[in-house]
Amino acid sequence: MIDFSNAHALAKTLDQADPLGHVADQFILPDGVIYLDGNSLGCMPKAAMAAITQTAQTEWAQDLIVSWNKADWFELPTTYGDILAPLIGADTGEVVICDTTSLNVYKAIFAGLSLRPDRSVIVAETSSFPTDLYMVEGVLAARGNLSMQLAESESDLLTQITTDTAVVLLNHVDYRTGKICDVAKITRHAHEVGAIVIWDLCHSAGNMPVDLNTHNVDFAIGCTYKYLNGGPGSPAFIFAAKRHISALEQPLTGWWGHAKPFAFDQEFDAAPSIRRFLCGTQPILSFRALKAGLDVFTPLSIDDIRAKSMSLTSMFVELLSEYCPTISLLSPDDAHQRGSQVSVTFANAYPVIQALIERSVIGDFRMPNIMRFGFSPLYTSHQDVAKAVEILADILESDIWRETRFQTRGTVT
Ligand SMILES: Cc1ncc(COP(=O)(O)O)c(C=O)c1O
Repeated sequence: MIDFSNAHALAKTLDQADPLGHVADQFILPDGVIYLDGNSLGCMPKAAMAAITQTAQTEWAQDLIVSWNKADWFELPTTYGDILAPLIGADTGEVVICDTTSLNVYKAIFAGLSLRPDRSVIVAETSSFPTDLYMVEGVLAARGNLSMQLAESESDLLTQITTDTAVVLLNHVDYRTGKICDVAKITRHAHEVGAIVIWDLCHSAGNMPVDLNTHNVDFAIGCTYKYLNGGPGSPAFIFAAKRHISALEQPLTGWWGHAKPFAFDQEFDAAPSIRRFLCGTQPILSFRALKAGLDVFTPLSIDDIRAKSMSLTSMFVELLSEYCPTISLLSPDDAHQRGSQVSVTFANAYPVIQALIERSVIGDFRMPNIMRFGFSPLYTSHQDVAKAVEILADILESDIWRETRFQTRGTVT
């Protein structure tokens, strides 16, 4: 048995000094579970349970249709967008919460194209989360005379983004490796050649400063069910810099994006505000749950959140290199270049993840041989990190992952 006492002692000391240590109390954390999958689905805030119950029992069951006005349901996409805005460095009136990330990618690409009508190239990256590329394909199918170019690396991006480029679509943090892409550098370069940039913030919103307006970003999109803890299928967000809002067009011109939805005019007239990104009726129960997730952030400092995230991932990386020498680090070694996740490779990653889950350490698997571990600074402790590595080291040393029960794959990995 490996001696982990030093690691546990260090973890305890770090947790005692953690300014965010108290925040975990605001979440429902299943007993005995070490949850390292907040990069897929964040834990449930206790207040979300109360919010959903209240919305269902009062606003839906009792007040019914009256709630559209009485409970301000119609305004929730922008009211909550304004609550989310400071977390990503946006201003009031620049963020709307709605639909899914995939749909918002589609809308943002069209919006970018509408601002660069004389250009025809969309630049993205081979390592992109696939839905982003699939949505570009959808845009190409819907619109003639456009093409997509894929960059292999950050330096390749700088070469590929030229005066032909209309729109650049990039992931802030790579979903596989956790590597951070340099928002300031790429956005500056794209603007120098007149291109519009869209950032996918799914893996950075809520775990690090994003500073969209400091970097003059044009558009951004992201989900709220990961580090923002909005719940399964919670609505996504879309940001447009104020300077673009009145001119941009998006293709899903539903009545919620109309300037006067209750005039029931026959022709579409886009809302003059960020609401023009809306399409149709939004999921109110999910909105209420998301609000509970967003409220957790209000009194916290995003710099404290980032500092803790770096401390957690660094400790994980150091313990892995000491106690799990047969696995290789895929994420950047330098914490400043790493998001809030650590990915490692191991030839038999899938059964190892299954063996970890059996021992109540939840991470996830990504093709072809990647184990991903997400560290939510709001509810993950250094003691969780030490315990998780202790269990992983034991699984690897004992070879228990070779047992048949760990080999069967479910639909969702
Ligand atoms: C980087 C990234 N972009 C887009 C998506 C797709 O989000 P949605 O399923 O909400 O459309 C995900 C989902 O995990 C993601 O990680």
